[in-house]
Amino acid sequence: MGKIITIKNNKGGVGKSTLSKNIAHGLAMLDYKTALITSDAQNDSLILLGGWFEGGKGFKNYVQTAEDCHIKIRKNLDYYPVETDIFGINLKNKIKESFSVLKVKYDFIIIDCAPVFNVLNDIILEITDEIIIPIKLDKLSTAGITRLLDKAEGNKITQIIPNLYRNTKISKDYFINLKSFFNNTGVILSNPIPESVIEEQLSEKGKTIWETQAKKAEELQTIYGNIIGGILND
Ligand SMILES: Nc1ncnc2c1ncn2[C@@H]1O[C@H](COP(=O)(O)OP(=O)(O)OP(=O)(O)O)[C@@H](O)[C@H]1O
Ligand SMILES: [Mg+2]
Repeated sequence: MGKIITIKNNKGGVGKSTLSKNIAHGLAMLDYKTALITSDAQNDSLILLGGWFEGGKGFKNYVQTAEDCHIKIRKNLDYYPVETDIFGINLKNKIKESFSVLKVKYDFIIIDCAPVFNVLNDIILEITDEIIIPIKLDKLSTAGITRLLDKAEGNKITQIIPNLYRNTKISKDYFINLKSFFNNTGVILSNPIPESVIEEQLSEKGKTIWETQAKKAEELQTIYGNIIGGILND
């Protein structure tokens, strides 16, 4: 039975789509059958993988009719585009059924979850097995993260990933504070992923962190390797 992992933060621009692309491709490269699904009608993680959705039938149609819509984007990695993020509450059971079918088909289902509250995102949080949260090390993000833990889905949070890290005193202090906050909670606080020109360039070219020989990518590959290790050990 496959595992659903949702990459979520209600803040925009913290790296949800970037993490989704790199984690999903990393799992696929380890030979796990992986689906990358989004609740973001912009389909950013597909674009970051070098693909494009022309519109038309996507995940909503799949939920309604079971007509397949996946795009084979890499070996072992299928992308499910979403044509709209507006799903009526009447589709609740059908959405759940669709995810049950996908859990049989795939080892991992990574969901790049849009930072909005709607029916689809509510159901994703209900059915997901794990939640991974990318954050920036700043005042607003760290305040938000401690609030999230108090919510119903808080106990599904397995990893917090500081992203877009800059080597400043403020960022370091936030990291140290978070480290003591999460100590002995069972939630993994990842090493911070630096803000990196390499990531920018790879995104521009539609590539993942695993598709470069650049020496400078090694630090990021090690951090992502540990994040994936955390997923596999869970
Ligand atoms: N570690 C990094 N180094 C450099 N650039 C990064 C890094 N992580 C993400 N980015 C860039 O930051 C921008 C925001 O990232 P991304 O789109 O993944 O965030 P998001 O949380 O999915 O945003 P949204 O809320 O709009 O969906 C993108 O341009 C992405 O290429
Ligand atoms: Mg995004």
